[in-house]
Amino acid sequence: MTSTFTPVALEHASRLLNHGPTVLVTSAHGDRRNVMAAAWSMPVEFSPPRIAIVIDKNTFTRELIVASAAFGVCIPGAALADLTFAVGSCSGHDGDKFARFGIESLRGPVLGVPLLEAGCAAWLECRLIPERHTEDAYDTCFAEVVAAAADPAVFADGRWNFRADNAALHTLHHLGAGNFARASDVIRARPLQAG
Ligand SMILES: Cc1cc2nc3c(=O)[nH]c(=O)nc-3n(C[C@H](O)[C@H](O)[C@H](O)COP(=O)(O)O)c2cc1C
Repeated sequence: MTSTFTPVALEHASRLLNHGPTVLVTSAHGDRRNVMAAAWSMPVEFSPPRIAIVIDKNTFTRELIVASAAFGVCIPGAALADLTFAVGSCSGHDGDKFARFGIESLRGPVLGVPLLEAGCAAWLECRLIPERHTEDAYDTCFAEVVAAAADPAVFADGRWNFRADNAALHTLHHLGAGNFARASDVIRARPLQAG
């Protein structure tokens, strides 16, 4: 599979996660691969762009990320709500989720991690930053973003463009128990008049 997304400049990569979308974390090591949902992620550094993401130590994803020192962060559009909940509700320990749910992936350009584009708005390819003092104690992982790309229909020139005609690509925000809010209702701040 070849990418149909447009590269996102690394200086703009933080904007893909800034508004807190629920993401799909992809990983692979040897002939094993996996995908899970994650609601807890955020940018933490500007340059080079770094993110923090919470990956439960007991997940199959964490095992593959530790083994490969790499992972993908794919940002599903609203049309993937069911899939996002599904891959966040079962473990790759019990079988390959790509095969089970018919998920197609392409290889990331820098690290070769599996990345999803169909139904997704964007992806980031991330290199794990080893944090030996936190590895055993915390679920949080830190990583450097080494490549990013987005569907230009919804993210272009470093900006999200949520419109009625691209609603299927509006990001998902987990409210709990499989309920999501969709990032559709954009409010543009106007300058306040001096009093
Ligand atoms: C919407 C949603 C959001 C989730 N967010 C997180 C998260 O931020 N961090 C985490 O460790 N698990 C999160 N989970 C749970 C994992 O996705 C779940 O444990 C998954 O089964 C792990 O799969 P794996 O063992 O194949 O890696 C979330 C689940 C759902 C449905």
